[in-house]
Amino acid sequence: MASEVTISSPEPQKLEASQISSVKAFIESNDAVPIPSTYFSVHELREDVAENNLAASIPVIDFSLLTSDNPHVHANAVRQLGTVCKEWGFFMIINHGISEKLMKDLLNKCVEFHNLSFEEKKELANEELVTPIRYGTSALPHGEKADCWRDYLKVETHPNFNFPHKPPGFSELAFEYSRKIREVLRTLLQGVSESLDLRPNAIIDYTDYDSSYQTCQTNLYPPCPKPDLVLGLLPHNDNGLMTLLIQNDVNGLQVMHDGKWVNVNPIPNCILVNTGDQLEAVTNGRYKSIRHRVVVNERHARVTLALGNGPSLENETCPAPELLQKEKAVYKSIKYKDYFKVQQEARIADKRGLDMIHIN
Ligand code: OGA
Ligand code: NI
Repeated sequence: MASEVTISSPEPQKLEASQISSVKAFIESNDAVPIPSTYFSVHELREDVAENNLAASIPVIDFSLLTSDNPHVHANAVRQLGTVCKEWGFFMIINHGISEKLMKDLLNKCVEFHNLSFEEKKELANEELVTPIRYGTSALPHGEKADCWRDYLKVETHPNFNFPHKPPGFSELAFEYSRKIREVLRTLLQGVSESLDLRPNAIIDYTDYDSSYQTCQTNLYPPCPKPDLVLGLLPHNDNGLMTLLIQNDVNGLQVMHDGKWVNVNPIPNCILVNTGDQLEAVTNGRYKSIRHRVVVNERHARVTLALGNGPSLENETCPAPELLQKEKAVYKSIKYKDYFKVQQEARIADKRGLDMIHIN
């Protein structure tokens, strides 16, 4: 009698995090070795990628119009900002006043950092969620559906400025850039407030922006031999108010819009802006935090620099009180520093952090 053949369950197994501590070091020393299956996020593949004409329709905001002395020009720019925050949660800003040279020099320093030996970088490794300096790979928390094909350095740059000393000059450029980004963001947050008929400094005040928590993160997405099976970053929402990102000339970011992943092809010298969970919370859900992910490619390393900007860590974010005169609070108030933990737990459960503080 033939014995029965047991077929293993097709249910995806929960994978252990891979042992790789740097994707770059791995791929450089293991050219012919298959990549660990913990990186395969097959269920997340490239399905539902929007047509390129949608990529071409990602909004562009002329930042200089927001700061215009002409009240009509300013009012139109505020209206446009409100519309793109509502309809996309993602846009490119041009004429932002940050020099092309500063952005290029800084990205070059990011490349130099990633090119330091693994031995030099690993001194900066740690697993703390909120920490002044962290070098790492994949993403925290571990235990998500798959590992991410990226290495990164994440540093707190406000209220206290931290930075590694290597490579020389990196810290100085990052300091200058992080302060300029704070000023750009201040103007954006003022515009966002005005677009909701709040006083210009409403969101600045409600998030204690002068002590706000800012992080500076450079991501390296090395070329990947199996780009169709692997993601650089799994779909996620940033936890802060807004993230401002620049990149080298390799694309890979995708944002979720109308149920499709839209490729982001930045125009030269622009800064990419995405909304985060704290913006959604303080606007009582008017401006949604945008979901995004990163795809990788077989040939080119992608380098990005993302400045994450939240409220102050001690700030208890709640919907702007003026908005609650006409509508009910959609989210519970929670300190930003506590929201980090909420978001981590949510990610392991494949949920959004905001789902955990949503009021039914
Ligand atoms: C992030 C992020 C996108 C990118 O660091 O949170 O979404 O293109 N980065 O590097
Ligand atoms: Ni992100």
